[in-house]
Amino acid sequence: MKIIPGDMSTQEITKVQELIYTTRVESVMAPNVIAIDPSSSMGQVKDLMRDKHISGAPVVKGKQVIGIVTIRDVIRSMEEGKLDFLVTDLMTTDVRTVSKDSMVTDVVKNLGQQGFSRLPVVDQNGDLVGIVTAGTLIRSLLKQMDKSFQRNEAEKLYTYRASHIFQDISSDDTSLLLRFFVNERDFDNAGKASSLIKRSLQRLMLRPQIVRRVGVAVYEAEMNLVIHTDIGGEITVEVRKDRVNISTVDHGPGIGDLKQVLQPGFSTAPEWIRDMGFGAGMGLANIRRVSDVMKLTSAPGEGTRLEIVFNFQNESLDNM
Ligand SMILES: Nc1ncnc2c1ncn2[C@@H]1O[C@H](COP(=O)(O)OP(=O)(O)OP(=O)(O)O)[C@@H](O)[C@H]1O
Ligand SMILES: [Mg+2]
Repeated sequence: MKIIPGDMSTQEITKVQELIYTTRVESVMAPNVIAIDPSSSMGQVKDLMRDKHISGAPVVKGKQVIGIVTIRDVIRSMEEGKLDFLVTDLMTTDVRTVSKDSMVTDVVKNLGQQGFSRLPVVDQNGDLVGIVTAGTLIRSLLKQMDKSFQRNEAEKLYTYRASHIFQDISSDDTSLLLRFFVNERDFDNAGKASSLIKRSLQRLMLRPQIVRRVGVAVYEAEMNLVIHTDIGGEITVEVRKDRVNISTVDHGPGIGDLKQVLQPGFSTAPEWIRDMGFGAGMGLANIRRVSDVMKLTSAPGEGTRLEIVFNFQNESLDNM
């Protein structure tokens, strides 16, 4: 992923940062886009904007976005007496779009920059499937925060049951092992393992701060399995009384130069992956930043192993 907005120099990650980091653009966009036909005149655009209460819209030919026109263009065309000009003469043709499968961080980065206040959302074929504005973004994030608040109530029971495992089951060293299998290039399910892991840790009553840090690390690790491996891999999470050990293992292609891939900004992700908002070369750097210990080992041609540790400070799960 590209960025976590805000200051990540401390290991603090707020709920909102976590939300935008793990939410897909698809779920914050307005799916019904009012699109403008290239044959429209600026006068027709003006009428449409007034009738539909919008201040901008993409110009779409077939399903491809060929431009974007805003209220500012309409005003300018009125001032210059160009209301009978075609929209294609006055629209902006250099349109910034986002992929529906990329994460909301991508939107946050682009919205507001260079005066963009709306971003058309496209699918893998580049077809228009929705639009995001600050408004659609805020509304859906608020809705999600509300949902997560309500879920919290239902969670209390599960949490009560799960959190007693470490007291109810005695052994010299009890631990809980969770395992997940991640398929290569499976973007439909990408992120599922990390959200299940986060939920399990919440139910075990780990501190929210640790759960968030684990959430970020495991999400990056999961995406690396999806994006960079030949045949996917496995995530293992071992919850112990005093720490969480996470490992991901895959069977290739492996990494030739470990130093290089650990450098922030280094990525071998191809163009189409970057178009989805991944491939900024920040995943491993983010993992290192949020975790207490990180170890990457790899044999080219054989596979890669990533180990991550989070220590619970001054507290253990059987008295939390
Ligand atoms: N499991 C893996 N197998 C092979 N190569 C990997 C694996 N994990 C990471 N890499 C290599 O390490 C590079 C850096 O990984 P990192 O997660 O930091 O960035 P990225 O995945 O390229 O981009 P981002 O995580 O920001 O979307 C990758 O581009 C890839 O070359
Ligand atoms: Mg990555």
